[in-house]
Amino acid sequence: MRILFVGDVVGSPGRDMVTEYMPKIKQKYHPNLTIINGENAASGKGITQKIYQQFMESGAQAITLGNHAWDKREIFDFIDDANNMVRPANFPEGTPGKGMSFMKVNDREVAVINLQGRTFMSPLEDPFKVADELIEEAKKRTNIIFVDFHAEATSEKLALAWYLNGRVSAIVGTHTHVQTADERILPNGTAYITDVGMTGPYDEILGTDKEAVIKKFQTSLPVRFEIPKKGRTQLSACLIDIDKESGRATSVKRILINDDHPFLD
Ligand SMILES: [Fe+2]
Ligand SMILES: [Fe+2]
Repeated sequence: MRILFVGDVVGSPGRDMVTEYMPKIKQKYHPNLTIINGENAASGKGITQKIYQQFMESGAQAITLGNHAWDKREIFDFIDDANNMVRPANFPEGTPGKGMSFMKVNDREVAVINLQGRTFMSPLEDPFKVADELIEEAKKRTNIIFVDFHAEATSEKLALAWYLNGRVSAIVGTHTHVQTADERILPNGTAYITDVGMTGPYDEILGTDKEAVIKKFQTSLPVRFEIPKKGRTQLSACLIDIDKESGRATSVKRILINDDHPFLD
């Protein structure tokens, strides 16, 4: 079982990278399941139904979200019907959408879970406790469990990874938009990377207009953030191989595509 996971897709530059490189990555690596973090897919803020459908058509089977999940109001109109989309599971009870979804892959099922951190982020339910509950539920159906942990603090990501070591196939970090070089398999068979990184503008700050971000730091005044439509772009992703019987990860590999790291067919 090979899972391809694409990190936070930012605006149309990020979506264009997905359209351009998804066929090439698939041809080279042959993933069985493709998951995209789409929390920034609509001009940096949230996701629309049209973009969700575009992702499905471009070859993804599941979408994860994060703190920007609710930025586009129309999310509330379609999230309950979007079977292949998960939002952070540790939002309070009664929040629209769901935090875990089961993807059918050949003769198996893969549980896809989205969780959000609480350090330097909005207060939510305890992601450790919610993970325990979801894993117990998932294990009734499958050994293959994938977690997108959308969090700011490296320590919180590592803490959840070690807490889940041996109980999930993979836990990958999103949200910081910068790919980390610490991918590894933890001793009990859980693949881990602190952050997969961002898919979108390459010469900006985390995908957002750098002039606006610099101004924000200089003045502390409210600044309107836009996603620049022109300029160089990048794609950040990772590939995880999982033994489909045991659910243990056997390899994890980073993918980074930009002008400094060209894609080799
Ligand atoms: Fe993001
Ligand atoms: Fe985020």
